[in-house]
Amino acid sequence: MAREFSTVGVVGLGTMGAGIVEVFARNGIDVVAVEISEPALERGRVTLTGSTDRAVAKGKLAAADRDALHERVHFAVGLDALHSVDLVIEAVPEHLDLKQRIFAELDRVCRPETILATNTSSLSVTEISVATTRPNQVIGIHFFNPAPVMKLVEVVRTVVTAPEVVADVEALCARLGKVDVTINDRAGFIANALLFGYLNHAVGMFESHYATREDIDAAMKLGCGLPMGPLALMDLIGLDTAYEILDTMYRRGGRDRRHAPVPLLKQMVTAGLLGRKSGRGFYTYERPGSPVVVPDEATPLASAVALADGARAITKVGVVGSGTMATGIIEVFAKAGYEVVSVTRGAEKSAKVCEAVKTSLNKGVVRGKLAEADRDAALGRISWSAALDHLADVDLVVEAVVEELSVKKALFASLDEICKPGVVLATTTSSLPVIDVAMATHRPADVVGLHFFNPAPIMPLVEVVRTIRTSPETTATARAVCAALGKTAVVCGDRSGFIVNALLFPYLNDAVKMLEASYSTADDIDHAMKLGCGYPMGPFDLLDVVGLDVSLAIQRELYLELREPGFAPAPLLEHLVTAGYLGRKTRRGFRDHSHR
Ligand SMILES: NC(=O)c1ccc[n+]([C@@H]2O[C@H](COP(=O)([O-])OP(=O)(O)OC[C@H]3O[C@@H](n4cnc5c(N)ncnc54)[C@H](O)[C@@H]3O)[C@@H](O)[C@H]2O)c1
Repeated sequence: MAREFSTVGVVGLGTMGAGIVEVFARNGIDVVAVEISEPALERGRVTLTGSTDRAVAKGKLAAADRDALHERVHFAVGLDALHSVDLVIEAVPEHLDLKQRIFAELDRVCRPETILATNTSSLSVTEISVATTRPNQVIGIHFFNPAPVMKLVEVVRTVVTAPEVVADVEALCARLGKVDVTINDRAGFIANALLFGYLNHAVGMFESHYATREDIDAAMKLGCGLPMGPLALMDLIGLDTAYEILDTMYRRGGRDRRHAPVPLLKQMVTAGLLGRKSGRGFYTYERPGSPVVVPDEATPLASAVALADGARAITKVGVVGSGTMATGIIEVFAKAGYEVVSVTRGAEKSAKVCEAVKTSLNKGVVRGKLAEADRDAALGRISWSAALDHLADVDLVVEAVVEELSVKKALFASLDEICKPGVVLATTTSSLPVIDVAMATHRPADVVGLHFFNPAPIMPLVEVVRTIRTSPETTATARAVCAALGKTAVVCGDRSGFIVNALLFPYLNDAVKMLEASYSTADDIDHAMKLGCGYPMGPFDLLDVVGLDVSLAIQRELYLELREPGFAPAPLLEHLVTAGYLGRKTRRGFRDHSHR
C-alpha cells in the first residue's frame, strides 16, 4: 500500500515552486506554500493566480475548480508552518549551502516520517540529504518548467533512499498525472545533462555573433520542431538558475568544457538580466514575469525593409543535381513562380527527377493543397537539361549534387565560366566549408550557402551561410529569395554544422554516451526529452530516422573542425555503424524495426 499524501509543503515560490504548488493543489492535495519574506510570498501568490487565471481563460480549468484550488493553498513565511505536512518539496535557488541549511531546518521542524524532497536540477541529492538525520527519507523530485504543463518528473534516489520512499513518490507522481523516470544521483540527471551543453553552446554562438538571437531560436524551432529556441528557453529557466546548473554540472560532471558557463551568462546575471522573471534576458519582456516579448534595440527591422537592402532581382533559377534535395528544391522554386532550369548528368536522370516532381505535385493536388492549374503552371515553368551551358542566363544557381568537395569545386569552377556576371551561386552542402567552393570561382563574393532541410517542400527553414568573402548583397538576395519561397531564412557563419546540426548532433551523441554508460535506458531517455522538454522525438527515435551513419559523419566533422573533446563520437555509435545497424533504413539501429 502506497503512503497517502494529504498535505505537502513547498519551499520557495519562484519559477518552479509556484508551478509545483499548482500541480499539487490541482490534484486535490492541500499545500503549505512557504517563502522567505512577505514580498516574496506575495510574488508567489501573484504567479499562482496569474497561471490559474490563464488556465481558466483558455478553458482548461473551470472557475469553480480554480477557486477550490486556491482554497487548498495555505501561504506562510518561514519553515515552521511545515510541522505537520507529509512531504516537503524544496525549490529555492540552486546553491548547495542554502539547500543544506534548509534541509537541516526541515529535519528539525517536520515530523519524523515526513519525506523531504528537493527539486534541484544539478546538485547532489546525496550531499543535501546528509544535512538531515534521515537521509533515507530524502529524495529528488525534479519537475520541469512549466511544472503544470510538462508531464515528466525525474525521481532521483540516492544510495541510501529507502525503496518504499521511492515507491511512494512514484505513486504520488502517477496521482499527479505525471510520468516518472527513476534514476540515480548524477549531475543533471537525464534531461538537463543532455540539455545544458546544448543551451550553453547556443549562448556561445550568440556571444560570438555567429548568428542573431532570433535566428538561433528560429533555427532550432523550425529545423528540429522544438517548442522553443535555446535562448528563449534560457530566459524561461532563468539565467541565474541556468548559470548555477551549468557551473555545478561542470564541477560534478567531469569538467566538460561544454558546461563551463559562457562568460556572457555571468555578465548578464550580474547585470540583473535574469530572463523572464526580471523582464529582460536575451529578449525583453512586457514586464517582469510576463511571457510576452516586446521589441528592443536588437529586434530586426520589419523584414520587408531589411530584405530589400541591396538584394538583386531573381526571376530565373538553375538547380543542379538529381537527388532528393535537388528534386525538392526544383519543386519549391517552381511553385513559388520562378522559372527553373534543372540540370542533371543525363536525360535519363532528368526524366526521373521530372517524374518525382510530378508525383510530389500530384500529391499536393490529391490532398487539396494545390489547384490543378497551379500544378500545371509550376510544371510549365521548369525546363529540363543535361548541359550546364543552359545556365548562362539564370540569376541564381542552387547546387545540390553529391556531398564531395572535389565534385562541388569542379562544378563551381564550371559555373564560374558559364554564368553571367552578378549571378548568385549557392551550395546546399550540409557539412562542407562554403568558402572552399567559393574559392573555386573568381567571384567568391557571389557565393553563399543555402542549406535547405529535407523534405524541402515541407521544411520551413533555410540556413543562409555567409563566408568571410560573401558580399552583403549576396546575403540580402539569398534572404529575399527564401522569403519569396515562403521559408524562414536564418543567417549564420561558415562553420561546421551551421546552426542546427552544430547544436543538434552533439546532443544526440551525448544521449548515446549516456546510454553507453548505462545511466538510463533508450526508452527513458526518449521519454525524458519528449515529456520533460517537449521535443517531438526522443534522441534515439531521431537517430534511427536520420541514420546512424549520417549522424556519425556529421559528429566527426564537428569534432574535426572544433577539436572539442566533448564532441568525440560515442564509441557505441561507431560500433553500431560498423555493425551495419544504421537505423530504420536497415531495419535496425538503436531499436529493432523489423516488425514495424
Ligand atoms: N527554472 C527552471 O527551469 C528549473 C527547472 C527544474 C528545476 N529547477 C530547480 O528548482 C529550484 C528553484 O529554481 P527556480 O528557477 O524556481 O528559482 P527562483 O529563483 O525562480 O525561485 C527561488 C525562490 O526561492 C525563494 N527562497 C530563497 N531562499 C529561501 C528560503 N530560505 N526559504 C524559502 N524560500 C526561499 C526565493 O525567494 C525565490 O522565490 C532550483 O534548485 C532549480 O535548479 C529549476
